[in-house]
Amino acid sequence: MSGEASIGQVHPAWPARLHVVTGKGGTGKTTVAAALALALASGGRRTLLAEVEGRQGLAQLFEVPPLPYAERPIAAAAGGGEVRALAVDAEEALLEYLDLFYRLGAAGRALRKLGAIDFATTIAPGLRDVLLTGKVKESTTRTVDRRRAYHAVVLDAPPTGRIGRFLNVTAETARLAKMGPIKTQSEGVAALLRSPMTAVHVVTLLEEMPVQETVDAIGELTALGIPVGRVIVNGARPPLLAGAKPTRAELRRGLAAAGLPSDQATVATLQAEAKEYLTRRALEESLRAELTELGRPVVELPLLPGGVDRAGLATLAETLLTA
Ligand SMILES: Nc1ncnc2c1ncn2[C@@H]1O[C@H](COP(=O)(O)OP(=O)(O)OP(=O)(O)O)[C@@H](O)[C@H]1O
Ligand SMILES: [Mg+2]
Repeated sequence: MSGEASIGQVHPAWPARLHVVTGKGGTGKTTVAAALALALASGGRRTLLAEVEGRQGLAQLFEVPPLPYAERPIAAAAGGGEVRALAVDAEEALLEYLDLFYRLGAAGRALRKLGAIDFATTIAPGLRDVLLTGKVKESTTRTVDRRRAYHAVVLDAPPTGRIGRFLNVTAETARLAKMGPIKTQSEGVAALLRSPMTAVHVVTLLEEMPVQETVDAIGELTALGIPVGRVIVNGARPPLLAGAKPTRAELRRGLAAAGLPSDQATVATLQAEAKEYLTRRALEESLRAELTELGRPVVELPLLPGGVDRAGLATLAETLLTA
């Protein structure tokens, strides 16, 4: 009962309906999007985890066959929640859209056979993104029996280098189109993406390039008027040393206490490693400070030593809820 009732309310720590997850390539966008969808589904809620790049990254992560253009349950969340997944496909979205407005039916299938859709999305590349974001909007705002179909929608989005264009294409289209359903549709998507219903979260590692891309993307999104949610530091390592470089005497005592050889060569090697580690940690600290300066909430997810399996995803989901 409480699950059903709460499906209308957004999570207080993650106050948006549509969570767009971006970040530099390989920083963990797909992993973090999946963990967030699990987190927001916990306690009997339902979330949709969507991808738009035709990569089937979600199917790989959850070890299921390629996802069709249909919302399918993909995982159970803690406390009876459900995550559904969808691979949004521009061609299918266009057919669905045409059918909605023009009731194409068999004519739509004929269009597909003719390759007309490929043609349309190839001559107008922006159209592809209009269709993809349009479908995401539809699932975010869909109601069933006057209730939201989903508590939240989490989008495994294009990387930082393309996120501004991807999310702004509907505003551009709305501006260019003089009238008609494309204009109305684009205005609707552009409005959703600029409203408090949306939050764009940026995933980063504590490394220079991803942090730079995070700074740039947040600047770009802010200039476009698109709400930025959290900065998510992925693969964070817990601090190993108290801070200062350990002395040779301390290392020797430590080695001896652990029953390990404490000869001069071992101590010297360990000391060099400690120095290198502390240098890297100093760099990480300065990158952390740079991220904090962005003025957005920062959440850290641990590096899972064994990689990300289902249990690992659950751990990350829990961290997202408690951080
Ligand atoms: N916290 C973590 N601990 C350990 N491994 C992780 C963690 N997060 C992600 N990974 C691993 O890092 C790799 C990249 O993650 P993922 O595929 O989520 O990144 P991505 O940003 O979606 O990449 P792409 O840009 O290719 O779409 C994967 O092998 C994933 O299992
Ligand atoms: Mg990915």
